[in-house]
Amino acid sequence: MTITTCVFDAYGTLFDVAAAARIAAAEPGREELARNWPGLAESWRRKQLEYSWLRAVMGRHADFWSVTGDALDWALEAAGLDGDGELRERLLALYWELPAYPEVPAMLARLRAAGRATAILSNGSPQMLDGAVGSAGIGEFLDAVLSVESVGVFKPDRRVYDLVGARFGTRPEEVLFVSSNGWDAAAAAGYGFVTAWVNRAGLPMDRLPSRPQHVLADLSGIAELAGA
Ligand code: LAC
Repeated sequence: MTITTCVFDAYGTLFDVAAAARIAAAEPGREELARNWPGLAESWRRKQLEYSWLRAVMGRHADFWSVTGDALDWALEAAGLDGDGELRERLLALYWELPAYPEVPAMLARLRAAGRATAILSNGSPQMLDGAVGSAGIGEFLDAVLSVESVGVFKPDRRVYDLVGARFGTRPEEVLFVSSNGWDAAAAAGYGFVTAWVNRAGLPMDRLPSRPQHVLADLSGIAELAGA
């Protein structure tokens, strides 16, 4: 079946989530962070996802910005950096305007030029997605930015994936869903989307009930997968 609509996860897929800690670590006076920014970025991201899954299971939703702040507090404490309130504010400010991966604008432009609809489907709150889309300058290439806030539960709850059909009137098999998160790609495949897992880090395939049909090292092959 022809792909009509390409839907992208945001954080880690279009936007480089490690950039906040990496950029802060390069600033003057941050020697301690400079020594361990990859560890901080990793535990911040890991806790952010764990808290999203746990809140979904517990039925205790809070928006992704507050989950992101909670996860950062845990990660800063684990790294012995929790006394540095200015660093916390700086990291959150950088998270608000994360850069897109370099291949993103051209890839989205090619999809649009070939008549494919494009969208973000993300755990992010509408405000934080607006911030990231605006600072990356990719708003002109997107037909929709869909946030889980309209259903009040995080991925991989099926109600989140339902937002795509509700917005575009598509059947799942005409949607190419793209995520760098193995668990998100697996769940989207189980939902019925054609899925591509962007495995930049060369990680093993997640052992979950469904598997993505496609695995790519970055986003440069997406337009071809979509027939664009
Ligand atoms: C998102 C997270 C899962 O953007 O990366 O939905």
